[in-house]
Amino acid sequence: MKNYRLAIVPGDGIGNEIIPAALKVLEAAAKKSDFNLEYEFYDWGAGRHLREGAFMPEDGLETLKAFDAVFFGAVGLPGVDDTLPAKLYTFKVRTAFQQYVNYRPVKLFKGLESPLRNKGSKDIDFVVIRENNEGEFVQHGDFFRPDTKEGFATDTSIFTRKGIERIAHYAFRLAQKRRKKVTNVTKSNTLIHSLKYWDSLIEEVSQQYPDVKLEKMYIDNASANFVLHPEYFDVILTTNLFGDILSDLGGGIMGSLGLGGSGNINPENDFPSMFEPIHGSAPDIAGKGIANPVGTIWSGAILLENLGERNAADQIVRAIETVFQKGIKTIDLGGSAKTDEFAEQVIKALNE
Ligand code: NAI
Ligand code: MG
Repeated sequence: MKNYRLAIVPGDGIGNEIIPAALKVLEAAAKKSDFNLEYEFYDWGAGRHLREGAFMPEDGLETLKAFDAVFFGAVGLPGVDDTLPAKLYTFKVRTAFQQYVNYRPVKLFKGLESPLRNKGSKDIDFVVIRENNEGEFVQHGDFFRPDTKEGFATDTSIFTRKGIERIAHYAFRLAQKRRKKVTNVTKSNTLIHSLKYWDSLIEEVSQQYPDVKLEKMYIDNASANFVLHPEYFDVILTTNLFGDILSDLGGGIMGSLGLGGSGNINPENDFPSMFEPIHGSAPDIAGKGIANPVGTIWSGAILLENLGERNAADQIVRAIETVFQKGIKTIDLGGSAKTDEFAEQVIKALNE
């Protein structure tokens, strides 16, 4: 029997509710598809930072390297400087493990209504591919005499040939398996150096994929089209910052931030990839057992797909849909199911 080793990092807030719920679903899927999941829990995050002065131990990355994948909730707590979670955990893992692809599917589950009037599940089905290692989020910048009259601050974006080419190849290959369209979401009309370079390298890479149509769209227009014409999109290829924003907008048109799943993927498998819901630790609802576990369950399905367990992944997504089609919803979607109840329903649907 195949055996996969997972590092489990629930993190803070609702991470400690949605990860255990989602793990039960993964267990059920593993049992059904005849593979085994073996895992270790790590109590890393802002809570650990408060207790022990660090988000993770010094050898944390070394520890994670030994696993096939990382299953992650979210980090961040109201009492902790909110610049730290990304810097000391999320970006640290994404960068150290060369998880340069942020894979964020957006689809309207059957059985749910989109907040977009007259848009159904045929209209909302695309993937945001966000560059995940460089761009606007490299945190290269400084403050210059911030408390004086001439004070200023900078954040410099970094776009490299290597970084752009590899994410472009990933997007085109993904499009070949889908509806063969890549939309480059950019802003090269005003970011005339970095994103001009971005556009030109994407066009160059596109020559190697003549079967895929490449289109360019500015981020401002793309935001409007998410709402007006979501059916237009298949694979969106975009930068770290734009992808961050667009995927929450994607969560919005699916019906809730709690629905979005994602993968931070190292396609070469030189390091483990990390899978997490698109939302944060939601301190406003933490501890009540009411968080929507779907984004996390879906992230778990993406994890299994990346380990090569495509069938199990598809079965999980179908099971989520079956539950929605029965009219069962969590509170954020206007229903009454609690986190564990919803996960139990997904397991039931899996085994039906
Ligand atoms: P958030 O995504 O945690 O919450 C935004 C809103 O969506 C809240 O009203 C929340 O209740 C709701 N929501 C989120 N997930 C939900 C779920 N599964 N079910 C039902 N409702 C849900 O974003 P926010 O409030 O901006 O950030 C809170 C903390 O999370 C901050 O410390 C932030 O830094 C951190 N964060 C961490 C991320 C990560 O670890 N990857 C990503 C985003 C934020
Ligand atoms: Mg975000």
